[in-house]
Amino acid sequence: MKITFTDASKSEIVGFIVDEGGKLPAAAQALDDETGGLLNEAANSGRFSGKSGQQAFVVLPKGSSAKRAALIGGGKAKGRDDRAWERIGASAYKAHSNSGFKSLDLHIDAADNAARTALGAKLAAYRFDTYRTKLKTEDKPSLNALNLVTEDTKTAKTAFKPLDAGADGTYLARDLVNLPPNDLYPASYAARIEELAEHGLEIEVLGEKELAKLGMNSMLGVGQGSVKESKLAIMRWNGGKDGDAPVALVGKGVCFDTGGISLKPGAGMEDMRGDMGGSAAVVGAMLAIAKRKAKANVVGLVGLVENMPDGDAIRPGDILKSASGQTIEVQNTDAEGRLVLCDVLWYVQEHYKPTAIVDLATLTGAIVIGLGHHHAGLFTNDDKLSDQLTAAGLAEGERVWRLPLGPEYDRQLKSKFADMRNIGGRAAGSITAAQFLQRFVNKGQTWAHLDIAGVAWVEGEKAPTDPSWASGFGPRLLDRWIADNYEG
Ligand code: BES
Ligand code: MN
Ligand code: ZN
Repeated sequence: MKITFTDASKSEIVGFIVDEGGKLPAAAQALDDETGGLLNEAANSGRFSGKSGQQAFVVLPKGSSAKRAALIGGGKAKGRDDRAWERIGASAYKAHSNSGFKSLDLHIDAADNAARTALGAKLAAYRFDTYRTKLKTEDKPSLNALNLVTEDTKTAKTAFKPLDAGADGTYLARDLVNLPPNDLYPASYAARIEELAEHGLEIEVLGEKELAKLGMNSMLGVGQGSVKESKLAIMRWNGGKDGDAPVALVGKGVCFDTGGISLKPGAGMEDMRGDMGGSAAVVGAMLAIAKRKAKANVVGLVGLVENMPDGDAIRPGDILKSASGQTIEVQNTDAEGRLVLCDVLWYVQEHYKPTAIVDLATLTGAIVIGLGHHHAGLFTNDDKLSDQLTAAGLAEGERVWRLPLGPEYDRQLKSKFADMRNIGGRAAGSITAAQFLQRFVNKGQTWAHLDIAGVAWVEGEKAPTDPSWASGFGPRLLDRWIADNYEG
């Protein structure tokens, strides 16, 4: 969808925001005067009261500048935050996307609010139709142009730029999570990442030979049962000072998680196409960072594997030697995400000495039980980083909730045979998973882990800004965190 900002109307449909219990805004009143009171008639009839989510439509008389007018309930004007503006944009888009009309104006005076509204509409306009061959024209959106009519178009355009980049990151993350595992496997995924070089990212991809040389046997163990070659993809954005240590983003990229020999139950297993959601968040964030030309050094690393049962797959009882030198008794091959991440965490510390690391992973079913679909779990060894990530999440509507770490949880990982086992028992499953990762974080290294298993995809009732199965959680949170804390 094309998004523009102008100071005058130009579209087939012209939309105005009406506050709950409020009068028509000035531009709507002018159109009302021209049309002999049609807009006030609509505003004062039926149940329209300006409540959020309500809309009233007016067919404009022949010769009018537009074909339709829409009154869009804005809810209470007081306390209307960025989320509310995004929702206004999303519901306005949704109401007209299949109307048969191509273009929509939204009159929003303040530049920042216009930009947020545009973001909401863009997020709502996401589609994943790649695999549909029988889509009828009437089921395809007709609306392909949104114009924000606003007082200060220059400020609005400037405000929209980084939001637009963030939304592009969200779109990419959604695409990656939505893609089926027969088309998105480590090598094809890495090839897509390589295409991001056109945005100024430096890309490096390591294959199994190189990973073996590095001793990354824990990650390789997970991919061992798959015919697909495991890959480590590295994306670098050098927008900061030369030689300044980067911020590191690390993502779990299990392209499909069958559980391996500790096979998952069949029902719902298709969802495990999304088990690369952490990596998608990182790749999406790197795109957003590059698109808005962030003034920071950022490195993104994603461990790409497929977890399959096979004659040569790892077994419960196997002991793997991780790249850090620590040994791991695999008691459950379905606790594979941590086996991938521990080696990638080692790699990033060894090669980049990052100022901070944030890893993201659809790591545990337990976090879905604990926090549901509305917060990601946050685990960190640094209170300041906790505050930063919490604030960035609230600012962008990708919320995180901190859970504890501690030596008593860490003890659950004791193994009879090796330095640790890869599961910690039934109690506190998300915390023991985080404890496992922390064993691979060097002393003094600032680090946070986001368990996004409950938020990477959501079935059922969703916000209008989140129209597809994959939510694309992560890129806007990470991009905002970097913008607010690492760019001077
Ligand atoms: N990918 C899953 C976690 C998951 C579950 C993500 C549900 C999204 C929705 C992960 O690899 C896994 O299987 N975790 C196990 C760990 C257990 C064996 C300790 C789990 O949560 O059951
Ligand atoms: Mn698993
Ligand atoms: Zn998994």
